[in-house]
Amino acid sequence: MIPSDLQCPMLLLACLFAVLQLSMLTAQSPNELSARLLDSLLQDYAFRAFFRPRTGVSYDGIVPSNLTGIRISAMRLRSGSLRKRGTGSYKEFQIPAGMVEQPYVNRLVLVYHNLGNWSSLYYPLPGYVSLAPVLGLLAYDASNLSATDLPELNLRATESPILVKFPNVELAAGSGPSPKCVYFGLQGSVEFDNVVDGSACSTVRQGHFSIVVEGIAPSPAPDGESGGGAAGGGGVWKREVWIVVGSVVGGLVLVAVLVVMVVWVKKCRGRKKIGRMEEVAGGGVPLATVIIASGKLPVAMGTRTRPVLESEYLP
Ligand SMILES: *[C@@H]1O[C@H](CO)[C@@H](O)[C@H](O)[C@H]1NC(C)=O
Ligand SMILES: *[C@@H]1O[C@H](CO)[C@@H](O)[C@H](O)[C@H]1NC(C)=O
Ligand SMILES: *[C@@H]1O[C@H](CO)[C@@H](O)[C@H](O)[C@H]1NC(C)=O
Repeated sequence: MIPSDLQCPMLLLACLFAVLQLSMLTAQSPNELSARLLDSLLQDYAFRAFFRPRTGVSYDGIVPSNLTGIRISAMRLRSGSLRKRGTGSYKEFQIPAGMVEQPYVNRLVLVYHNLGNWSSLYYPLPGYVSLAPVLGLLAYDASNLSATDLPELNLRATESPILVKFPNVELAAGSGPSPKCVYFGLQGSVEFDNVVDGSACSTVRQGHFSIVVEGIAPSPAPDGESGGGAAGGGGVWKREVWIVVGSVVGGLVLVAVLVVMVVWVKKCRGRKKIGRMEEVAGGGVPLATVIIASGKLPVAMGTRTRPVLESEYLP
């Protein structure tokens, strides 16, 4: 048996622990996934697509099954020819002449990502609706094609910008907020820019790109063929809605637990006070208690010496 004056503090501790666990659960929502870890993993899997690769030819990679829906590709290039001629079009990217990497390497690999239905999990953007999947372009040293955990080279366009041409983006014309290009830097920065040429974004740096529009996601459309499609937004934003709903419910539960705790603490204090009152009252003779409304109050049960009428002594 736990001594009764320890019971309240211990229960309090248990309550606090429960609240802590709950908040930790809320914090572990999927958008905690690290985009940098994904970059590293995709570098590894993209490089595996190379088997005696030819220079300037793009090879599509196969992602692990836990990332189905993401598409990757890799292309090995001579640094000199990238600088002189660019690549022309590589997937959705138009890479011009004048590309310079730092540090300088002889050959480099351009790794392409299309995050498809995983876009908003790795690159969440609250307050915006996605109109296109997140596309990535990252440069690595090609000197060891079985290397993992490679750092990116710093790739820059020095003559004209790289263009990212998003196909099948439905840009609502007319009123309402206009779509924006969004750029996610490797160090976690987020920048917005205007859409060019109808549905393209321009950049002088490597990183991840998408097109978004300000607003709340519309009520989720039936989850169609969002997997491979370029504009596979439906399923992604449905998940966002669920994250929001989950957070709200989690918050409510937290508040409820807190309220219960406060009530509990008050009760604990009250009970201790009553205990003391009981001890003090009548020098050790405990008084009975009654429960009135929600509190316990000590009461004296009648009088101890019954009054006797004098007439009763009469014979
Ligand atoms: C997916 O699986 C790969 C290989 O099995 C593993 O290395 C990686 O951590 C997993 N990634 C995620 C996001 O679960
Ligand atoms: C290439 O990288 C792999 C994996 O990190 C390593 O085991 C191997 O020794 C490297 N090869 C060369 C030639 O550096
Ligand atoms: C994306 O779609 C694939 C099927 O095309 C599915 O296996 C995968 O779980 C989906 N990813 C997410 C984050 O919903």
